[in-house]
Amino acid sequence: MELHAGNRERLVAALRAHLSASTRPLRGLVLLQGGEERTRDSTDHAELFRQETYFAYLFGVREPGFYGAVDIASGQSILFAPRLPPAYAVWMGQIKPSSYFKDMYKVDKVFYIDELAQVLQNQFSDEHGKPLLFLLHGKSTDSGNYSKPASFEGMDKYFDTDSSMLHPIITECRVIKSDMELAVLQYANDVSSEAHIEVMRQAKPGMKEFQLESIFLHHAYMYGACRHCSYTCICATGENSSVLHYGHAAAPNDRTLMDGDMALMDMGAEYHFYGSDITCSYPINGRFNRHQTVIYNAVLEAHNAVISHMRPGVKWIDMHKLAEQRILESLEKGNIIQGDIGDMMARRLGALFMPHGLGHLLGIDTHDVGGYPEGSERPKEPGLSALRTIRELKEGMVITVEPGCYFIDALLGPVRDDPISSKFFKWEVIENYKRFGGVRIESNLYVTAQGCKNMTNCPRETWEIEAVMAGAHWPLRAKN
Ligand code: GLY
Ligand code: MN
Ligand code: MN
Repeated sequence: MELHAGNRERLVAALRAHLSASTRPLRGLVLLQGGEERTRDSTDHAELFRQETYFAYLFGVREPGFYGAVDIASGQSILFAPRLPPAYAVWMGQIKPSSYFKDMYKVDKVFYIDELAQVLQNQFSDEHGKPLLFLLHGKSTDSGNYSKPASFEGMDKYFDTDSSMLHPIITECRVIKSDMELAVLQYANDVSSEAHIEVMRQAKPGMKEFQLESIFLHHAYMYGACRHCSYTCICATGENSSVLHYGHAAAPNDRTLMDGDMALMDMGAEYHFYGSDITCSYPINGRFNRHQTVIYNAVLEAHNAVISHMRPGVKWIDMHKLAEQRILESLEKGNIIQGDIGDMMARRLGALFMPHGLGHLLGIDTHDVGGYPEGSERPKEPGLSALRTIRELKEGMVITVEPGCYFIDALLGPVRDDPISSKFFKWEVIENYKRFGGVRIESNLYVTAQGCKNMTNCPRETWEIEAVMAGAHWPLRAKN
């Protein structure tokens, strides 16, 4: 809860600085409405609730149906709890008194939601008149969806509201992680790294993809107390590993693993709202063959090159291009493509092998907020347009580095007929990779003052992976 108090403090400081700079009075309250429990379709089956992410950031409240306010002048925090019906005690458990929530969430005051309008009016009307509420209204630059501003009965009549100031400022606060946030993100990474290694050790031909998913989920929950994952597990093998977000309801990790397959395992556990997002790629039979080594090392080279260049001030779009360039160079050395790498880059041919962005901010959301601050525009070129951020790196950011190389018919097919681009590809060699699928290597990086720190701890070199799959301890122990 100290973590969330720290988040509130940083938000209040940023809001005060913004108000002072625009010579507005230091008054007003941030008012957020937490998430609501949802039931499935028309049934009474309640889906497991996960708190709305801005509300989680400020208050850390795990229950649905709350409101929360923070007074900008004093920093005072107030939670408003739903008043629960007596039947709740029968079906859901004890109805907790407001003192419980005050102790649990370490806020200054707790009231019921039916008292909200009165409490705020009584306590925050001043010489300027009606209390001023700063509401959360803004777009997710990944989904295009808007956050839901708080609303309650009487709001329009008895309060002044501002729906434009809060969103960009709180979003910017979320981009830079505090030490406590980093500690939780590190924990989620530690659990997930370990769970990935467990999957890697147990994977073998004949199993189903969902069994790998199950091992990951079990390990993360059983040994890490992670009840949620950051996203649906992507457990792709063989050709499926060229499907970037495989594992959804229509592609439910149900293929049988074959000897000779590559696996692409993109899975991340979440702990106390904060997530991880890790991908390991390896051969199901535990030994890299020649084709697998070429593609895997092309991606690893890109992954390592980016990490060695990361530090504050570096532009993410340049890191994306660096990864693309390293992959193209390796493919050229591997006799898969031919010609001048600069020409290929200019034609954006790298996007045919890596159609997604190099990485994204990570935090309470897997694709965390703040990738495109106000005034920045998404690039339009192939590959670059998929970047979830084009920011310059800053100390305290946590960002994924996830280069990949895939053989995707839907992208490569049309190029074959393009007289200019087609000549860069050795089609007879690419034919051998048709069923290969793809490789992604994804780690979570924390940007430090001088460089970055890799929070993910999985075997990455081919020989490390082979050793761990053969039963070696991780980290590998030196032989005497
Ligand atoms: N697991 C989704 C992603 O890597 O962005
Ligand atoms: Mn991922
Ligand atoms: Mn990712």
